[in-house]
Amino acid sequence: MGKVFGAPDVVIGGAQVWKAGLDMGAQTEMVAALRKVVAAAPLFSPETRWGKPMSVRMTSCGRYGWYSDRRGYRYERRHPSGVDWPPIPECVLDVWNAIAGNECAPDCCLVNFYGENARMGLHQDRDEADFSYPVVSISLGDAGLFRIGGVERGGKTQSVWLESGDVLMLGGEARLAHHGVDRIRFGSSTLLKEGGRINLTMRVVD
Ligand code: SIN
Ligand code: MN
Repeated sequence: MGKVFGAPDVVIGGAQVWKAGLDMGAQTEMVAALRKVVAAAPLFSPETRWGKPMSVRMTSCGRYGWYSDRRGYRYERRHPSGVDWPPIPECVLDVWNAIAGNECAPDCCLVNFYGENARMGLHQDRDEADFSYPVVSISLGDAGLFRIGGVERGGKTQSVWLESGDVLMLGGEARLAHHGVDRIRFGSSTLLKEGGRINLTMRVVD
């Protein structure tokens, strides 16, 4: 791993952010590991509850994967192709252990891929059994404008650009904060040859 995590560099809306928590070597290693995940469990565009494809393409690794269609949002034990989700790469788990501790391991790592025009609306991560466990997120590739609000919908929000290697944790009071991504600064990073942004979010589902 590129860095030993100490105190966060930024706290915004209760979210803790470690700027460049992963150095270039660690980012490159992680992208290589994620290419294997995507080869086994290809990215797909989930449908929203209203039947519209999401602009973000997704897959998962770990025991559970995130899935959504007209029946709603939920965790599934298999990729839509029927295969098990691949295991969470060690280098990704290392980041969880460094900032969330190793008393409990995440059983889902959602892999989001944002192309040039992808965005993610404000939402809460609230389909997990125990909110005392944080959500740990890693950003790779192009910068994304992350917005965070409160636990209640419709309150004030704040924004921060998440850049390649940044690590963010939603824990404590911020665990159920509304959050989303307004836009990508396409081409701002050279990490991914074709551009775009990868965001990983690790969660403890059950
Ligand atoms: C998410 O909430 O699933 C993704 C957040 C991000 O892309 O930074
Ligand atoms: Mn989320």
